[in-house]
Amino acid sequence: MSTQHSATNSARSRIRTPVEIHSQFREDVATGLRRSQKTIPPKYFYDAPGSLLFEQICQQPEYYLTRTEAMILRDHVADVVDVVGNCTVVELGSGSAVKTRLLFDEYQRREQALHYVPIDISASMLEESARTLTTIYPRLQIDGLATDYWHGLAALPHAHTRLVLFLGSNLGNFTLAEQDQLFTQLARTLQRGDYFLIGLDLRKPIAVLEPAYNDAAGVTAAFNLNLLQRMNRELGARFDASTFAHHAFYNMDQHQVEMHLRSTVAQEVRISALEMRVAFDAGETIHTEISRKFEPAEVRAQLASHGFTPRAQWADAREWFLVSLFQYTGAAPTA
Ligand code: AVJ
Repeated sequence: MSTQHSATNSARSRIRTPVEIHSQFREDVATGLRRSQKTIPPKYFYDAPGSLLFEQICQQPEYYLTRTEAMILRDHVADVVDVVGNCTVVELGSGSAVKTRLLFDEYQRREQALHYVPIDISASMLEESARTLTTIYPRLQIDGLATDYWHGLAALPHAHTRLVLFLGSNLGNFTLAEQDQLFTQLARTLQRGDYFLIGLDLRKPIAVLEPAYNDAAGVTAAFNLNLLQRMNRELGARFDASTFAHHAFYNMDQHQVEMHLRSTVAQEVRISALEMRVAFDAGETIHTEISRKFEPAEVRAQLASHGFTPRAQWADAREWFLVSLFQYTGAAPTA
C-alpha cells in the first residue's frame, strides 16, 4: 500500500507520501455522514487553507495552548537534550514546526547533527516547513512523511535512538480507545531506550477553555467551517457555509471540548463524488472534533501500561499545560 511519490526534494530534505489521503477522505465522509450523530474525523481540518487557519488560531489571545507550551519548552529544552542526547527526532503532527525549532536551536548550540522525521497530514505545510528549516539549520537532515500518524509510524526509517515528539496536546483529538491504539502502535515501533516527549493540555476552568475554542476574531469558526468548503472543493459537495454555525463547548463529564457544525435550517445537501444526499434537521450537527483535557496521573498510568517510564515533566506556573518526557523501556508492569 505504499504508492510513493516524492514531493519536494533537495540534498537535505525529502518528503514521502505513503498513502493517498484523498480516497480516505471520501470514505470517512461517506461513513461519517451516514451515522445518526454525523461526524468527520478532525485530521481532515488540515488541508492547505485549514493548516494556515490553524496557524492563526495559535496566535489568538484566547488560545493559550501554543504559547504556554512554547514557554515551557523554551525553559526546558536544554534539560530534554541533556537526557536524550544524540537522536533522530520524529514528530507526530509537526505543522509549521515553530516550537520544534527550540529543540533544534539547542542541538545547533551543541554543534550536533540532527535527523528530523516530521509526520504531518498536510503535504503543503511539510514542504514549506522543510524549506524554512533546511535554510535555518545547516546541520539538519529532513525525511518528511505526508500522511496520518498510523501510516507515518509504519514507514519510519531506522535509527539508533529516537525522540518522538507529540506536542500541542494533539493527543486530545483521540478518543481513549484511539489513544490506546496509538500507544500500542508507538510501543511496537520504538526500540527500548527511545524517548517520547508529549505536550498535554490540562483540566482547568470552563471560563478559560470555552473562549479558547470561540475566539473573538472568529478564526476557530472559520477553521471549523473550512471543512464544509473542503468537501465542496474535493468531493463536489454543495454545502452553503452560511447555513451552518460553529459550535464549541466544554463537556464537563467527558473532560473534553467538542466542536460541531450546526445546520441552522432543515436542508438536504448533495455530495456528487459520493452520489449521496445528506439530510439535516434544523439544529442538527456534524461532530468535527474532541479536544480532551488531561489528568497527568491518568496518562502516566496509560503510558506505563504500554512500557513507557516517566523521566521528567515540566509545567507552567498556572499548571495549565504539561510537557512530559518518557522513555520506552518495554517492560510493561504485570499489574
Ligand atoms: C491541534 C488538536 C491540539 O484541539 O486544541 C484548535 C486543534 N481545534 N482549535 C486543539 C484545534 C480548534 C487543537 N489540536
